[in-house]
Amino acid sequence: MRKVITNGTVVTADQTVAADLLIEEEKIVAMSAPRSHNWLEGASTVIDATGKYVVPGGVDVHTHFELPFGGTFVSDSFETGTRAAAFGGTTTVVDFAVQVKGQSVRYGFEAWMAKADGNCAIDYGFHMIVGDINESSLKEMAAMVGEGVTSFKLFMAYPGVLYSNDGEIFRAMQQAAIDGTTIMMHAENGIAIDVLREQAVQRGETDPKYHSITRPPSTESEAVHRAITFAELAGSPLYIVHMSAKEAVSELTHARDRGLNVFGETCPQYLHLSVEDHVSLPGFEGAKYVCSTPIRFKAEGHQDHLWNALARGDLQVVSTDHACFFYDDDEQLGRQKRLGEGNFTLIPNGLPGVEERFNVMYQSGVVGGRFDINRWVDLIATAPAKMFGLYPRKGTIAVGSDADLVVYDPQASFTYSAPGSIHGNIDYTCYEGMEINAKIDKVLSRGRLIVDGDRYVGSRGDGKYLERGLSQMLI
Ligand code: URP
Ligand code: ZN
Ligand code: ZN
Repeated sequence: MRKVITNGTVVTADQTVAADLLIEEEKIVAMSAPRSHNWLEGASTVIDATGKYVVPGGVDVHTHFELPFGGTFVSDSFETGTRAAAFGGTTTVVDFAVQVKGQSVRYGFEAWMAKADGNCAIDYGFHMIVGDINESSLKEMAAMVGEGVTSFKLFMAYPGVLYSNDGEIFRAMQQAAIDGTTIMMHAENGIAIDVLREQAVQRGETDPKYHSITRPPSTESEAVHRAITFAELAGSPLYIVHMSAKEAVSELTHARDRGLNVFGETCPQYLHLSVEDHVSLPGFEGAKYVCSTPIRFKAEGHQDHLWNALARGDLQVVSTDHACFFYDDDEQLGRQKRLGEGNFTLIPNGLPGVEERFNVMYQSGVVGGRFDINRWVDLIATAPAKMFGLYPRKGTIAVGSDADLVVYDPQASFTYSAPGSIHGNIDYTCYEGMEINAKIDKVLSRGRLIVDGDRYVGSRGDGKYLERGLSQMLI
């Protein structure tokens, strides 16, 4: 199988260049000036990308499919979630396998491998959530490197569920320092937050907006500071997930300025949504936007701070933290967001985004003039691949890389509107009404066409498990 993508503008994190690509089987095998070759002879497929960008498939390193959470399950399975990702130009996801108290790390890993096996539309890897840190799970963390799991998420939030205390976190960081692996941190002071939540409910403050109000920025920045302190002491790399507060990003910036191996991601929801315009919507509508860390107050200036941090490199990655729950009761899954009607503490935390990230970041980032198209590619594909040991197989366009490619048409446009323009197992989009001045024309995963215009032309199970190496971002 020889495929040629011709007459397009190839965009990577470093360059924008008119170039043709030759694909054999699953790989990019050559890149050349347009028409300066004879590849069209004997090609099985020729894709004409005149007037279009050819960009690396997106790499989303923070998704949750088939996760039991918040008294229910997230609504996207590996099948529906990865298909939605493909529609949205993402060709690699790294999801989270979960070890819960009393179980081994390996048990959790194998359970999640079984959920994904044979169901994914695109390639996938796993981080491991370690919810029970003890002598035996620390040993298992080391062993997981051999399975291609090189990053471990810990929680300073959710006491009684996935929470780890300071001593446990510090021990896990010491282990990561020995193994060269990366600790991912959900950085919120869950103990203080639980006090605030209980007091709010006692006062009768039960609307969705109190989810944000009871998780103020200082509960995020304090936890980020503490996590950085422990990581420095232990000597382990640290990656803070889903950052939303400007004070928390400042903590990260100071630590990076001191030369520490600390990194941060934010997500499109924190760049686009606010308490004023979304979480405070009348009735129960705000529940759609309940996630943790929370959506913040626009008036406090978090969004501008996050955008600037992305442009300057103070934040390295944009992922989604895709963890969606139906707003209205679903036939199969029953009550989801509405579990928290009358009590915001019972609203399952999380929202959809795996399909929208690529487009909304292009629109607000590139069209909106926040950064250039190369930085966009870096944030949504290249840096996440490097951060989690997938580069240059994933996240770029180069000879030898997997042919995970998106043909992107900047002349076309569309508007997000559920259910018509979304494809996951979910009944809303956070970007309802947002116009995107570009459109995904084709998506290739390891050389196979999986999305053609508005049609999914791949098959369930096309996606393969990715054994990841150690982070390639360390200094
Ligand atoms: O609200 C969120 N973020 N839900 C998913 C679980 C997590 O903390 O990442
Ligand atoms: Zn989290
Ligand atoms: Zn998450």
